[in-house]
Amino acid sequence: MSEIRAAVQRLYDTYPFPPEPLLDAPPPGYNWRWNWLAAYNFCTGQKPPKQDIRILDAGCGTGIGTEYLAHLNPEADVVGIDLSEKALGVARERCRRSGANRVAFHQLNLEEVEQLPAQFDLINCVGVLHHLPNPMQGIQSLAAQLAPGGLMHVFVYAELGRWEIRLMQEAIALLQDQEDYREGVKLGRELFETLPENNRLVKRERERWSLDNQRDECFADMYLHPQEIDFNLETLFELIDASGLEFVGFSNPQFWQLERLLGKAPQLLERAKDLPERDRYRLIERLDPDMAHYEFFLARPPLTQADWSSDKALLAAIPERHPCIEGWPSRSLFNYDYQIVNLSESEFEFLQACDANPARGANVQDILAEVSLNLERVRALLDQQLIILTPA
Ligand SMILES: C[S@@+](CC[C@H](N)C(=O)[O-])C[C@H]1O[C@@H](n2cnc3c(N)ncnc32)[C@H](O)[C@@H]1O
Repeated sequence: MSEIRAAVQRLYDTYPFPPEPLLDAPPPGYNWRWNWLAAYNFCTGQKPPKQDIRILDAGCGTGIGTEYLAHLNPEADVVGIDLSEKALGVARERCRRSGANRVAFHQLNLEEVEQLPAQFDLINCVGVLHHLPNPMQGIQSLAAQLAPGGLMHVFVYAELGRWEIRLMQEAIALLQDQEDYREGVKLGRELFETLPENNRLVKRERERWSLDNQRDECFADMYLHPQEIDFNLETLFELIDASGLEFVGFSNPQFWQLERLLGKAPQLLERAKDLPERDRYRLIERLDPDMAHYEFFLARPPLTQADWSSDKALLAAIPERHPCIEGWPSRSLFNYDYQIVNLSESEFEFLQACDANPARGANVQDILAEVSLNLERVRALLDQQLIILTPA
C-alpha cells in the first residue's frame, strides 16, 4: 500500500468521517443528488427507464450518503467501499439501524474497483478524489465501472475557497512533531486560540467552518489531512476530460448562474453569455472566489436528452410528481432544492393528478381534460422540477 494511502486510512481510522449520529429510522428529508429519479431527470429531463439499478458509493466513509442512497432508491442494490475499516464499521451499523438492507460494504481502494463483479448505473464519489495520490487515475478507475447510460456524481475541493485552510494545514504540519492526528487536533485548536482575533485564518474559520469543526472529526478532516489536491476550473476540466466521460453539468446550478452576479448590467450579462461554456464558468469563479468545492454529474453515453418543446410530445407524456418535494400535499412546499414554491389551485390539482400516476397511466392531455391549466404552466412545473415526464 502506498504511504499516502496508509496515512489517509490512518486518519479516517482515528477519526471516522462524517461523525453524524446514528439514527434508528431512515434519514430525514432528501438530497436529490442521491435520488436516481431526481438525478436522472436533472441530467436528461425525463424519467429513467429503470429503477432496479446498481449504485456505488465510492469512499463512503461512515455511510451518510450510502444510507440516503439506499432509502431514496428502494429498488436499487447499493455498494459502499472505503479504505477505512473503522468508517465502514460505522456505516454498516448506521444502515443496519435504519433498515437499509440492500447495501453491501467492502474495504477496497477505489482504484481497484474493477474487483467488484458488475458495472454501476450511478456512482457517487463525494469528498474523496482530492485525497488520492492521483485523482485522474481514481476517476478513470471509477469511469471504467460506469454502465452505458450511467451517471457519476462527483464532489471535489476548489482551491480558491480553501486558501486559508491550506495555509493552516501547512502551519500545523510545520509545528507537528509526528503524524499523530489526535496531537495535531490539539495543536491546531491551540493555534486558532492563540492567533489574534482579526487574523485572516481565524476570521475565515469562525465565519465559515467553526460550527462543524466543533467536532474533532471535522477539524481533523479539514486541517490535518495528509493528502489533499485542490482544483481550479482548468485542472477540474483536465480531470473531467481524463475520465473519458461526458460533463453533464454542475449539480449546484444556481452558483453558476451569470444573472446572480451580472443581472444588474444587461450588456455585461449578454457579453458574458456569449463566452464559450468553460470561459463562462471561469468568469463566474473569478468574480465569486468564495466557493470551496465543485460538484457535478458526468455520464457515459448514450444518455438521451428529452426535448419537450413540441406540444404534441408534451401532451402525450406521462407525468408524475417529483419524488423530492417536502411538505406535500400542500400548495406551499419545498422543491427538490429546498426552495419554497407556492402553487396556484390548478397547479396543485395538476400535481395531485400526477401523484396518482404512473399507476393510472394518464398522460398530460388526459389530466388537462380534468384540470384547467395551460401548457405553458405545465412547462413551468417541469422547469421547476415539480414533475417528471416519461415520453410516450
Ligand atoms: C471526507 S471522507 C468522505 C466520506 C463520504 N463520501 C461523505 O461524503 O460523507 C473521505 C473518505 O474517502 C475514503 N478514501 C480515501 N481514499 C480512498 C481510496 N483510495 N479508496 C477508497 N476510499 C478512500 C476515506 O477513507 C474517507 O472515509
